[in-house]
Amino acid sequence: MSFKSLPKIELHHHIEGAAPPAFVRDMARAKGLDVSNIFGPDGTYQYRDFLQFLDVYEKATKPFQTPDDYALLTAVVLGEAAEAGVVYLESFLAPDFCGGRDPVAWREYLQAIIEAAQAAEALGITMRGIVTPVRHFGPDAARETARCAQETAGEFIVGFGLGGDENAFTTADFAYAFDMAREAGLHITAHAGEFAGPDAVRGALDDLKAERIGHGVRAIEDPALVERLVAEGIVLEVCPGSNVALGLYPSVADHPIAALRAAGVKVTVSTDDPPFFHTDMVREYEALAEAFGWTEADFAALNRVALEAAFCDEAARARVAQRLEGKDA
Ligand code: ADE
Ligand code: ZN
Repeated sequence: MSFKSLPKIELHHHIEGAAPPAFVRDMARAKGLDVSNIFGPDGTYQYRDFLQFLDVYEKATKPFQTPDDYALLTAVVLGEAAEAGVVYLESFLAPDFCGGRDPVAWREYLQAIIEAAQAAEALGITMRGIVTPVRHFGPDAARETARCAQETAGEFIVGFGLGGDENAFTTADFAYAFDMAREAGLHITAHAGEFAGPDAVRGALDDLKAERIGHGVRAIEDPALVERLVAEGIVLEVCPGSNVALGLYPSVADHPIAALRAAGVKVTVSTDDPPFFHTDMVREYEALAEAFGWTEADFAALNRVALEAAFCDEAARARVAQRLEGKDA
């Protein structure tokens, strides 16, 4: 069995961040927009560092202007994920980019995304959405985003997250928005411990009551925090290729995922924004196998952790469990 045909669960993925460059260029051309400055001479996304990556990311969202655009984007992205063997995907959806945080417009975007996701079930992939404010847009915008999340929490929208510049504002500034989301029954995750250190992870746990942490890899710098993650069963959504591409670690072999796993932390593997980082789930598995000697049995174990940590309801979890065992469901 190649890693391609191995069934996979992906818990950390941004819908716009998964847009293939050619798709963004086509969409931009159709809208009369010039997005050439976000691409390098080889046609791939080009950025120098994390903050410029966030800027390029935002510019790449500009051509997506209607619910139909998002339906098309979702179809393309789910097709590619299914091709890489992903059977269950949780994707971050940002009302900032889908209707400008207006709850009425957001519902229309979401409906289009859900219809595309339902069509992709035929490919053997199930998608769920995590509504996500953009941290550097600030706490007031996050509260408006939480309102969108509250109103659409349900079978498809299962979680609330936090992306963007981890060094903008404090986690406590977002506590109110996260309380709103939690009270609406949503599960909680937050990017932390990617471009800020262990204290950022503590903030996500204490202020936002995160059940999972996006990245969280810099917890490795603080043994007491690693112990806490183990004791509390906190799941890390680790994206090795993303961390290497953004310069956190020189190579996957230098990445702390293996050390975190060996310490007993619940780690999972995701792509984050696949074309931005020249990756997909097959490449992630190949790189981990090469760096750490991980085998199919290791990846099966990681996928069981991910299955348990998925924010979906039990009926969906049971269907995905069947797929992990290679059964049609
Ligand atoms: N948005 C998209 N990708 C992200 C990342 N790796 N960190 C923070 N925000 C993001
Ligand atoms: Zn991310």
